Amino acid sequence: MTRRPLTQPKIRVLPDYESLSLAAAEKVSGRLRSKPEAVFLLPTGVTPLGMYRRLVEMHDRDGLSFAGAAFFNLDEYLDLDADHPASYHAYMRENFYGLVDADPRRVHVPDGSASDPEAECERYEAAMKEAGGVDLCVLGIGRNGHVGFNEPGAPFDSRTRVVRLAESTRRVNAGDFEGGRAPERAITVGMRTIFESREIMLLASGANKAQAVAAAMEGKISEAVPASMLRRRPEATFLLDREASSAIGEAG
Ligand code: PGA
Repeated sequence: MTRRPLTQPKIRVLPDYESLSLAAAEKVSGRLRSKPEAVFLLPTGVTPLGMYRRLVEMHDRDGLSFAGAAFFNLDEYLDLDADHPASYHAYMRENFYGLVDADPRRVHVPDGSASDPEAECERYEAAMKEAGGVDLCVLGIGRNGHVGFNEPGAPFDSRTRVVRLAESTRRVNAGDFEGGRAPERAITVGMRTIFESREIMLLASGANKAQAVAAAMEGKISEAVPASMLRRRPEATFLLDREASSAIGEAG
């Protein structure tokens, strides 16, 4: 691990994806051990797959229990059934919740097929509050700097809401959908809700994230780069592999 002379938030650079995944899983398991009833806000995507795999291993091998904790997902596509293979319900079931002893009553994913999506957003936000607020939020980062489905321009004071996906995000995610067309809308937990988490850990792996990471860490703190907001949070950590960190410092 190397440290670079940056201010806030903390940054950890790991040599590769495997060590990044292990460090992320250790952070989650550490939180769980110190507070078994902790509330987690969790991401989907390619990046966290290794972290989930490690957490499942810790459950199988070391008896790490998730039964007392509460889990919320950051986002879900809208107008998609929970059974759709590209839904985040399916992703979480297949990669995490279905493989450990998480209590189904404490597992929450926004309902992308809700007849009243606005009401679903309000319900979801209230459920997080009722659970006591988020102890640890784990984030990925989009190539355009998005977190969750908070695309560039997302207000820093936003809550859980219906959003329109950026065309670039739809292109990146198109491969998950028959006919190559990703949904146009989603429900996402908002920037303010993310910001209010007691701890935040952003994961980024690979050279295709390097520019977004550098913009978030070193550019202007601006709604144009949602992840830049984390610089206002000393409790946030950017966990990067070497490739994802490779553009930091280039501008200066
Ligand atoms: P990825 O997605 O992990 O699949 O790259 C991250 C994101 O878009 O937030």
